[in-house]
Amino acid sequence: MLRSDAWVVGDDEVALEHRVALRSAGVPVDERGGRPVVGIANSASELNPCNLPLRGLAESVRAGILAAGGLPVEFPVLSLGEDLMKPTAMLYRNLLAIEVEETLRSYPLDAVVLLANCDKTVPGALMGAASTGLPALVVTGGARPACRFRGERIGTGTALWRLWDEHRTGALDDDEWRELESRLSEGVGACNTMGTASTMAILAEVLGLAVPGTSTIPTGDPRAHDGARRAGARVAELARRQESPFAACGPASFANAVRVLNAIGGSTNAVLHLAALAGRLGVPFDLADVDRLGREVPLLADVEPSGSGLVHDLDAAGGVPALLGELADVLDPGAPLADGRTTGELCASAPEPVGTAIRPRERPVQAGGAFRVVRGSLAPEGAVLKRSSASPALLRHAGRAVVFRGYEDMRVRIDDPELDVDASSVLVLAGCGPVGGPGMPEWGMIPIPRKLLELGVRDMVRVTDARMSGTSYGTVYLHVAPEAAVGGPLALVRDGDLVEADADAGRLDLLVDPAELARRADAWRPALRPSRRGWTALYQAHVTQAPRGCDLDFLEPVPGEPTLVEPVVGRS
Ligand code: FES
Repeated sequence: MLRSDAWVVGDDEVALEHRVALRSAGVPVDERGGRPVVGIANSASELNPCNLPLRGLAESVRAGILAAGGLPVEFPVLSLGEDLMKPTAMLYRNLLAIEVEETLRSYPLDAVVLLANCDKTVPGALMGAASTGLPALVVTGGARPACRFRGERIGTGTALWRLWDEHRTGALDDDEWRELESRLSEGVGACNTMGTASTMAILAEVLGLAVPGTSTIPTGDPRAHDGARRAGARVAELARRQESPFAACGPASFANAVRVLNAIGGSTNAVLHLAALAGRLGVPFDLADVDRLGREVPLLADVEPSGSGLVHDLDAAGGVPALLGELADVLDPGAPLADGRTTGELCASAPEPVGTAIRPRERPVQAGGAFRVVRGSLAPEGAVLKRSSASPALLRHAGRAVVFRGYEDMRVRIDDPELDVDASSVLVLAGCGPVGGPGMPEWGMIPIPRKLLELGVRDMVRVTDARMSGTSYGTVYLHVAPEAAVGGPLALVRDGDLVEADADAGRLDLLVDPAELARRADAWRPALRPSRRGWTALYQAHVTQAPRGCDLDFLEPVPGEPTLVEPVVGRS
């Protein structure tokens, strides 16, 4: 008996009404039931160009579901567009998760294909579906075309941040800046560097939640339609067998995801999303493992910002299957994949990488892990550094703090010629965490003060409770927990305090006399007045800190209790 049969099987007025509603929408159910109703949760939106390729892919998903004997039902879900949504799409990731979960719970759906692409849409959709435990796979929309500027191919995000710095120093004039704008507007799809979208698409494959070989296919490539059809057919098949990929997504899958995250030099945001998804599934996820497991894994994907290529190059080199083949000896071979194979089986038949975008193990882009997790008096519960895009000379550094309390404070003062800062200073941005942001915006790549840029300084140690884009780079300690808004030590730092960071030793400390710190803590009063209205009020009251993935505490599962509580199927 399928879940949807509870709605459509029967000869009473309730079942009749349900069949009429579905048939009116073009879904040909009959009173015997037995055909899986498969949702297509589509986050395509003109507010979010990264997700527009999903419109076309939905048709291919539909064809796959029908071919496998299922009944496709498409519905829209919240589109979280990283570029336009303020203060940050991350504030709404959990809202998308709730929307997906409650839609699946309340409608006659046996399974779902999640159409997502831009950064937060993939984790948000997966988190919501995970909480229902229904069969689900994600289909992503691919990376947008690369564009050219001044004769060079440039990737999304990373080049913009670099060119903005050139523009700030006058090295890039106003005409060139305007030309850059026209060059960047060259197509839809996700960022084509190793931003959060590409990172999460790749990790979905590794977790067994996306069809192998599909996550790096560029937007517009006909192979994407084949992948979408296969995903639709596979989900319909899983619905019939009542088998959910989430049930098989356990510690081995997450350990492999962390290893691959390091091998691709992925987005720091993925650490939060993995923690949140693992939390939904009741899988233990320790921040320290991101560092521990990563140190065994060399950075192999030569993709910006940690490398030099784009996601298209990674795809041409063989994509995730070729990458997994290269990593075979460090991966858990038993972790299941979305097509029914294990990771070990895929690795055994993986193609050899073509070209140089996937480096061989003996010639990695970098050795020894792309991430470091640090703790210490400034980050008692941890902070994350993307070592692979940091400056080696700054990995061990002590400097005087220059403190900004919030984004506006930073924007107003960062280029002030009177700012007391030099290249050895540590820039601290506090008050931008999950509660304080709210939603932990991507403000963490604090701009280098203009007067230092003009002297040639391109990186400094930065410390913040904010996040940064996966396309960003620099020696930035992110996700400091607990955050300043809830009284974490970041709230106590003052200009001139000595901050010491040692990435490889895993330390981030505030070198201030403990008695003085205790005095400051006693005097500290929250500056933030939480919102009293709507989603933001709910979010600020319940969001967890970064090591738990910034989920809402009431969405984490209660051990022993099912999360999919079936509704009463009667008159509405
Ligand atoms: Fe949407 Fe990068 S802004 S994927």
